[in-house]
Amino acid sequence: MSGDDERTESPESTDEVLGVSEVFKRYRDGDATVEAVAGVTLSLPRASLNVLVGPSGAGKTTLLGMLGGLVLPTSGDARIDGVSVVHLRDHHRTALRRTKVGFAFQDLALIQGMTLLENVLLPLTPRGGARKEDVTRAEALLERFGLLDKRDRRVERLSGGERQRGAIARTLVLEPPILLLDEPTAHLDSENAAAIVDALVELRDDGKTVVAATHDARLAEDGRVDRSLTMRDGRLC
Ligand SMILES: Nc1ncnc2c1ncn2[C@@H]1O[C@H](COP(=O)(O)OP(=O)(O)O)[C@@H](O)[C@H]1O
Ligand SMILES: [Mg+2]
Repeated sequence: MSGDDERTESPESTDEVLGVSEVFKRYRDGDATVEAVAGVTLSLPRASLNVLVGPSGAGKTTLLGMLGGLVLPTSGDARIDGVSVVHLRDHHRTALRRTKVGFAFQDLALIQGMTLLENVLLPLTPRGGARKEDVTRAEALLERFGLLDKRDRRVERLSGGERQRGAIARTLVLEPPILLLDEPTAHLDSENAAAIVDALVELRDDGKTVVAATHDARLAEDGRVDRSLTMRDGRLC
């Protein structure tokens, strides 16, 4: 009778890692209702680099939140690794999200006053903090993102590009198979934006399922992206 862990076969693809079916998200705004996402169906396979592109207000961040189990749909279904998150109890949904999904969202920015390394180790706090091997892994991530020499620098003294790469490194410290990024190239010059795209391509090549929401055509039009999905007014078009 426990519906909590029921697995549902994806109708779109057996290789599906993330999926939504006819998802809607409506917000109340006083007397009015805002339809942030209006009936999106999507199935994303393992080891794919996907970009959600569209103007501000199109519903990208909301859809990303629903794909990752952070935002519950008003109606429709959302699946992470074949598990429908809509009917999960909160603690099960949180546990699933924590093991499977890494978020690099703008409002989850690096914490000022702490060093870059301290920030990257932060996701380990609920596990009881960083062990020696965690520090080694964090340093390897910083090296991979060209940030090892900045490890002891407070984040407010890093450039925008360094902070964005640091935020991605922090997300990876728990080794999630799925990575969701919101506007990862925002406010970056071409060189720094290209470094972010290179990193996302590499993560995809490592087998991760990556979804980036952006209004940046540089990211959406990169030839290495597997899927570029345009959103407008809450819908894919
Ligand atoms: N928590 C919320 N409460 C009310 N309205 C929201 C909320 N989140 C998003 N919206 C609205 O939903 C629409 C889509 O927002 P969002 O998903 O942030 O789009 P994007 O990321 O493409 O800019 C916008 O009109 C926005 O104002
Ligand atoms: Mg957004």
